[in-house]
Amino acid sequence: MPLQVKRLLLAFAVFIAIMLVLKYFLTPDSWREYGAYRGKALTEISGKEAKYVEMETCAECHDTIAGLKTQGLHVSVQCEICHGPGYKHADDPDNNDLEIPRERQFCLRCHTKNMASPQDIIKQIDAVEHNEGEECITCHNPHQPWL
Ligand code: HEC
Ligand code: HEC
Ligand code: HEC
Ligand code: HEC
Repeated sequence: MPLQVKRLLLAFAVFIAIMLVLKYFLTPDSWREYGAYRGKALTEISGKEAKYVEMETCAECHDTIAGLKTQGLHVSVQCEICHGPGYKHADDPDNNDLEIPRERQFCLRCHTKNMASPQDIIKQIDAVEHNEGEECITCHNPHQPWL
């Protein structure tokens, strides 16, 4: 075997040996406990506090608003997009930490004129020209922007 090939093989062998040592020390204990992931990740994730609920849960108590919303153009916008995480409130309605976004700036996050987002999916307005200074909800019901 030519000398340069021997050297090359030696370099490979050293590289593989280093990798095996690293693998031995860096692999977490619970790796492959159930599959190709850390077994402990499951308990870590299930230990996290829940933040969101399904829209149906909000509708159980707020059926008038939910009904209104189903018939309008905001049908696809989840309650929690506007009111923030609602798990604690749904669990105990006295816990009233929900947001009520009445300011123009909030609606404009989705509706302001922006060349980079598709005009035909979400209608866009000119934030300056469209009834400047007035809150959007004086004219549009947030739960049903048009009948
Ligand atoms: C178990 C019943 C129940 C569930 C579930 C529930 N709510 Fe409520 N919610 C209430 C009650 C009761 C009030 C207080 C009375 C009122 O203002 O209507 C309230 C008040 C509110 C308010 C008004 C707060 C204010 O300051 O005036 C908002 C906004 C709201 N809920 C949104 C939601 C959203 C969003 C969800 C789903 C994530 C939800 N609620 C789930 C019962 C519920
Ligand atoms: C596009 C944003 C948006 C969405 C989506 C939305 N809301 Fe609201 N909601 C608002 C705003 C803004 C107000 C304040 C309205 C006002 O002051 O006239 C409000 C007010 C409320 C109130 C308290 C005042 C009232 O009218 O009784 C409740 C309760 C409520 N929303 C529940 C819900 C529930 C339940 C859903 C989902 C079915 C939902 N909202 C979806 C923006 C939204
Ligand atoms: C998360 C994004 C989002 C937010 C926030 C939002 N909207 Fe919308 N809005 C939509 C979508 C999606 C539609 C349905 C597609 C459409 O008609 O533009 C819609 C439709 C509308 C329409 C009807 C447009 C038409 O087709 O004639 C009006 C008016 C409107 N929204 C007003 C508001 C107001 C007022 C607020 C603030 C309280 C608001 N929106 C907040 C996403 C949003
Ligand atoms: C003084 C009442 C008034 C206020 C305040 C107002 N709007 Fe409107 N909006 C209208 C009317 C009327 C129309 C329909 C005619 C038009 O397109 O101008 C409309 C149309 C729209 C449309 C549909 C545009 C289209 O291309 O079909 C959207 C989206 C909208 N408004 C969002 C908003 C948002 C977001 C705000 C707050 C930043 C807001 N509006 C404030 C009265 C109002």
